[in-house]
Amino acid sequence: MMSLLAVLSFFTLLSTTARAHIAIWHPSMWGFNVTAQTYSYDNRPVTPLMNYTFQQWWFHGHLDHPPNPGDFFELPAGQTTTAELACDKGATTWFNSSQGGDIREPSNPNDPCPGSPMSEYHTTGINDLFGCSMAIAYKSDVTQVQPEDFTVFSVNQTCVWTRFTDFQVPAAMPSCPEGGCICAWFWIHSPDSGGEQNYMNGFRCNVTGSTSNVALAKSQVPRRCGADPANGKMQADPGNCTYGAKQPFYWFQLEQNNMFEGTYSPPRYLDMYNFPDGAQFDIFENSYPNGIPPPGPNSTVVPTPVPFNTAAPSATSAPSLSSTASITSTTGSSQPSSSDPPNSNSTSQGSGLKMCKRDAGLSSSSGPKLFSQSMSFISVPGLHSHRKMKTRSSLWNVF
Ligand SMILES: *[C@@H]1O[C@H](CO)[C@@H](O)[C@H](O)[C@H]1NC(C)=O
Ligand SMILES: *[C@@H]1O[C@H](CO)[C@@H](O)[C@H](O)[C@H]1NC(C)=O
Ligand SMILES: *[C@@H]1O[C@H](CO)[C@@H](O)[C@H](O)[C@H]1NC(C)=O
Ligand SMILES: *[C@@H]1O[C@H](CO)[C@@H](O)[C@H](O)[C@H]1NC(C)=O
Ligand SMILES: *[C@@H]1O[C@H](CO)[C@@H](O)[C@H](O)[C@H]1NC(C)=O
Ligand SMILES: *[C@@H]1O[C@H](CO)[C@@H](O)[C@H](O)[C@H]1NC(C)=O
Ligand SMILES: *[C@@H]1O[C@H](CO)[C@@H](O)[C@H](O)[C@H]1NC(C)=O
Ligand SMILES: *[C@@H]1O[C@H](CO)[C@@H](O)[C@H](O)[C@H]1NC(C)=O
Repeated sequence: MMSLLAVLSFFTLLSTTARAHIAIWHPSMWGFNVTAQTYSYDNRPVTPLMNYTFQQWWFHGHLDHPPNPGDFFELPAGQTTTAELACDKGATTWFNSSQGGDIREPSNPNDPCPGSPMSEYHTTGINDLFGCSMAIAYKSDVTQVQPEDFTVFSVNQTCVWTRFTDFQVPAAMPSCPEGGCICAWFWIHSPDSGGEQNYMNGFRCNVTGSTSNVALAKSQVPRRCGADPANGKMQADPGNCTYGAKQPFYWFQLEQNNMFEGTYSPPRYLDMYNFPDGAQFDIFENSYPNGIPPPGPNSTVVPTPVPFNTAAPSATSAPSLSSTASITSTTGSSQPSSSDPPNSNSTSQGSGLKMCKRDAGLSSSSGPKLFSQSMSFISVPGLHSHRKMKTRSSLWNVF
């Protein structure tokens, strides 16, 4: 039975979430100038997508509002790119084309929703963030892009917390076709703070500084494989994860869903679905030379990706065998913002194995590990374990 309190808080949520929500903002996006009046319904880029027809939710229904020619969101391979996420264009760099003008908060320019409570961006606090992602399709003609063409290449598990949000671009990203690529930003928020809302904004993007020409692997539907204490699941099932290139979540629409989770267990761009924080390193055709065994709830097989081992842009040093000691020293000096490929100096097979040893060594002292040669796999962090995820993501960065 629903308590009176629950009913009351339900209506409180309704009244706060009825206002603006969040979008990624950039001139390269579809719908940059769409206002509440452009459509017969409020279809601003920030409005949530729920129970919509495909035409309504795909690219937010904004395919008739393309970016100006030449506007691209640049994705520097192996580096960080910063996006702006906000409840209103007026809170971004592009306030001058916003109906309401500049609403940025002078005392806190990083506020994604100036003047609004946290419920506006659908979280009850920093431990209640579900992450967001960027996906890419290696096609230039948006009318040719299908949902299964998108591959998630970068995740920020702590969005939407700040307006300026960093995304790490995998170093192995190949160049886009001549007309650039098509990207999209995806977000599904925590069920603790609002309804079953999906967010998608499409934009034109282009990979710069590419040093690899290996294509992305065919993306697969992500699978739930982490612990989920809120739903009574205490143990992770790593053999149930999808490994390698993964599609974004398409959830809670009238048409073309690829995810079917219920109202209170939304899919999320977190370890629970094997979306590690930062660059998604294992999305390429050569990431798993030995193949990926079919995942399943009873599988205990966890495939190990081979890191991108092409020399970094400066390309002076030939690949060399690295000792465990040198990996350790890299670990010590790794930068939090580093999006370098896992151990770019070493040969692929050698480093893959060493990566695991190194990882196994770390795991005894500092939290869960992701990849392992063995089948004794430790838990993937679940709901409300943001601190654990942070630990894991720093592990990921030092690979
Ligand atoms: C979804 O939309 C359909 C058709 O418009 C409607 O019948 C149904 O009640 C809606 N479901 C929800 C959960 O809003
Ligand atoms: C959006 O509006 C601004 C200001 O009117 C204009 O300069 C810009 O070209 C428009 N962009 C698009 C994609 O329509
Ligand atoms: C609005 O600001 C953008 C970004 O600073 C600038 O490129 C553009 O020229 C400005 N447009 C107008 C209409 O002032
Ligand atoms: C996510 O974005 C925040 C805010 O920009 C940034 O501090 C953090 O490092 C980003 N996370 C990753 C994994 O890039
Ligand atoms: C994409 O970036 C590459 C590398 O900088 C560049 O050569 C190419 O012209 C860009 N493509 C577009 C469509 O701007
Ligand atoms: C395995 O993944 C599927 C698909 O996401 C999910 O429905 C199922 O609950 C998961 N099973 C286990 C045991 O994790
Ligand atoms: C997994 O194992 C359980 C228990 O042995 C069995 O009931 C179930 O059918 C198996 N599921 C799959 C998908 O093999
Ligand atoms: C990579 O090679 C450079 C130059 O030889 C060296 O300074 C660095 O420590 C090496 N890094 C790793 C991870 O082996």
